[in-house]
Amino acid sequence: MDMRAVDTPYLQLTGIRKTFGSGDRQVVALGRVELTVAEGEFLAIVGPSGCGKSTLLQIAAGLALPSEGTVRFRGAPVTAPPEGIVYLFQQYGKSLLPWRTVADNVAFAIEHRPGMTRAAARETSRRYLAMVGLAEFADRYPWQLSGGMQQRVTIARALAAEPRVLLLDEPFSSVDALTRLELHQLVLELWDKHRFTAVLVTHDVDEAVYLADRIAVLSARPSEVVQVLDTELPRPRDPLATRELPRFLSLRHAILQRLLGRA
Ligand SMILES: Nc1ncnc2c1ncn2[C@@H]1O[C@H](COP(=O)(O)OP(=O)(O)OP(=O)(O)O)[C@@H](O)[C@H]1O
Ligand SMILES: [Mg+2]
Repeated sequence: MDMRAVDTPYLQLTGIRKTFGSGDRQVVALGRVELTVAEGEFLAIVGPSGCGKSTLLQIAAGLALPSEGTVRFRGAPVTAPPEGIVYLFQQYGKSLLPWRTVADNVAFAIEHRPGMTRAAARETSRRYLAMVGLAEFADRYPWQLSGGMQQRVTIARALAAEPRVLLLDEPFSSVDALTRLELHQLVLELWDKHRFTAVLVTHDVDEAVYLADRIAVLSARPSEVVQVLDTELPRPRDPLATRELPRFLSLRHAILQRLLGRA
């Protein structure tokens, strides 16, 4: 057995600092963030608005560089988006290509791969659309779909790339409450099936507790990880029963206290 593989943290953020601008206009978004993500886990990151959650996730994805500190994915320094890490953006509306059909939007994630034919990309695209319940909408355009459906397209597109790590930046914040619950179930089902590593950024404490194994709580700017909790809630999770468990309520309470500065 390769011992190095066992000892090396899967995704590791060390001493991450990020500043924007300079002089008196300088903003220190991330103070000094330390965070390790284990392979296959579902980690949620919560923090107040503007604390640097999206910035942190972009740095983890190799889409932005930290001012200081390092990101390592399976031991290797991340300086550009690594193969295997897929980032799901906060605003689905902006991330779908309006001139491509739904199926072609999903195919976009895989069609550039060496040896991938157009027919094979379309086949894969349709399979993932079926998984998110959108088989019938493959030939429509994104703007012909509701917000929740468009978000399901972006989830299908992210999964079609067969990521090892899926980074989700508030992917449920712009849909209505019921659609959000449905998308939660969908993501949990897909995560259970494919066992990618999931890192979800959200300001919704309920959502974090409901979905995750572990929750990292960020402070306000310049943000740091102020607390990491194991949810220890049983799976599969149920949208009603799980939320009524005493453990759910006490986690929610503890995190909200922390975010409200009462801890
Ligand atoms: N490209 C940029 N240039 C300058 N400042 C930036 C840039 N990106 C982010 N910031 C600043 O960094 C801080 C963190 O922004 P970020 O978007 O990461 O926060 P967030 O926690 O994701 O916020 P929200 O909860 O509203 O999504 C904010 O003060 C923001 O103004
Ligand atoms: Mg954000």
